[in-house]
This record gives sequence, C-alpha cells and structure tokens, in this order.
Amino acid sequence: MISMCSEEEIRQMVDDFYAKVRRDEQLGPIFNSRIDDWDHHLVKLTDFWSSLLRGTTRFAGSPMTKHIALPGLSAALFQRWLQLFHETTQTLPNRMMAERADAMAQRIARSLWFGYQTSHRPDVLAEELDLR
Ligand code: HEM
Repeated sequence: MISMCSEEEIRQMVDDFYAKVRRDEQLGPIFNSRIDDWDHHLVKLTDFWSSLLRGTTRFAGSPMTKHIALPGLSAALFQRWLQLFHETTQTLPNRMMAERADAMAQRIARSLWFGYQTSHRPDVLAEELDLR
C-alpha cells in the first residue's frame, strides 16, 4: 500500500500539536495533570495517527473510555482542541495529509463528544460541536 505520509511527518505533527496543547491555557492543565510520562503519550499518539493515516495497526487503546473518565469536558474544550489541531496541520507541507488528518480529527472529536454526553447526561439530547 502506498502511504500518503511518512512516520517522520506523523511524529512531527504529533510533537507540534502536543507542544501547543501543553502551553494552552484551557487544555494544558487537563493534560499536564493527567500525563506524567509525555514521551510515552507522544509515542502512543504517534501510533494512533499512524494507524489512521498509514493503516498500520500499532495503536491499541480505548480512547472513548479514557475520555469519558475525564471530568468537565465540554463542547468548548473539544472546539479548542480542534482549533489547535488545525493550527498545526495548517503548517504541514503535505496538504493531502493535512486534509485527511483534519477530517479524521473532526469526526473523532464529534464521536468522543457524543459518547461523553451520552455517558454523563443520558437524559439530555446531545449537543453538536460547532465546526468551522
Ligand atoms: C477536549 C478535548 C480533549 C481532551 C481534554 C483530551 C485529553 C486527553 C487526556 C488527558 C488523555 C490521557 C488519558 C489517560 O491516559 O488516562 C487523552 C488520551 C488520548 N486522546 Fe484525547 N483529549 C481530547 C480530545 C481528543 C481527540 C479529539 C482525539 C482524537 C482525534 C484524542 C485522542 C486521544 C487518544 C488516541 C488518547 C490515548 C487513549 C488511550 O490511551 O487509549 N483526544 N486525551
């Protein structure tokens, strides 16, 4: 299979994105209070994106369960996450990779946010993300 991007490009995207996340006023504290081994987290997220964009099968995790367990997530936080992700992909020279990554991030963010709401507030109709 021909891949649309290299492992090096994925590693770069993941490193740049989480560097932004860690500095972010809203998202930084959530990540920094949960993740004590950043090297491990970055390897895991590189595996995740490699599975999505290159069809490798290295990622084995349970993102839905992990996110449901985080207190206080909101549409605004998911939108902020997507904004920082898009700021990162905007700088990628590989435009096909950038577009695929953005589309997948949006889809997964919506799905996590739906799962989150269904788990925390099953009695209320789930709210959509404002994707612009
Ligand atoms: C409000 C938005 C988000 C926040 C605050 C957030 C926060 C976190 C945190 C704190 C962890 C570590 C959890 C743990 O190890 O216990 C994590 C793991 C992870 N996140 Fe997110 N996240 C968000 C959105 C997303 C989105 C949109 C994606 C995918 C496009 C994503 C992909 C992942 C993956 C793959 C893991 C590893 C899961 C595993 O270990 O099984 N996250 N996230």
